[in-house]
Amino acid sequence: MKIYIEKDYAAMSKRAAEWVEHAIRSNPQLVLGLATGSTPLGMYRHWIQSVAAGTLSFKNITSFNLDEYLGLSAAHPSSYRMFMEEQLFRQIDIDPSQTHVPNGDMEHTEDHCREYDRLIEQAGGIDIQILGIGENGHIGFNEPGEDFGRLTHVVRLSDSTRRVNSRFFNTLKEVPTHAVTMGLKNIMNARQVVVLASGDKKSRAVEQALLGKVTEHLPASVLQLHPDCVFILDEAAACRLPDEVKHNVEMAR
Ligand code: F6R
Repeated sequence: MKIYIEKDYAAMSKRAAEWVEHAIRSNPQLVLGLATGSTPLGMYRHWIQSVAAGTLSFKNITSFNLDEYLGLSAAHPSSYRMFMEEQLFRQIDIDPSQTHVPNGDMEHTEDHCREYDRLIEQAGGIDIQILGIGENGHIGFNEPGEDFGRLTHVVRLSDSTRRVNSRFFNTLKEVPTHAVTMGLKNIMNARQVVVLASGDKKSRAVEQALLGKVTEHLPASVLQLHPDCVFILDEAAACRLPDEVKHNVEMAR
């Protein structure tokens, strides 16, 4: 496990962007696992700038997003597909047919989940999986209590996750109650996992993920078992980590 602690959100985003850019330059055909939410936005903005500057290309990159709300079509303004289109895909040179986000608007959910897993496998597996972390320790939409052994599946969203995510909707009632998410097994199957966290609201989840017991009550704790996992934090998200941990990490100041 590698931990980087950066001064603030901007520095965290830059470090994360550079981490992935370096990997893309070494392997322009990388398979990337992507996340939505507020945390990766700064990193996405860096990638957009690098593509505009001609120093980075996603032309041969394949992407798989972690999750999507159940019941929202791709065209819904609050769907994760729309989020990715607006915040990243339309602003970089990625081939649209190589971008994958689970379909939240399908009838046969089980078939769709198996197909998503098959597509990931067919692409050769995920090289780098980007993750944010929920205040309750969720990763993807794998809420506390999720089985570590699951692949893509439908989940019921916790009340706290729905409340936190209601900022992307007009009202809490509009937030779907269920979602499709890659499972913890998909995440653990990625060759490398890069977790981003910013702000003191995430500090408890970060502390428990890194130092707590590995337990299904805190889904992110499973990452302690991953052979190549990198946490890129800002100081606020790292504020609960004890000094002996902080002193052993790669500080970037
Ligand atoms: C998003 C996702 C979620 C978020 C997490 C943190 O695709 O799977 O696990 O990464 O809820 O969200 P933010 O970054 O908005 O704090």
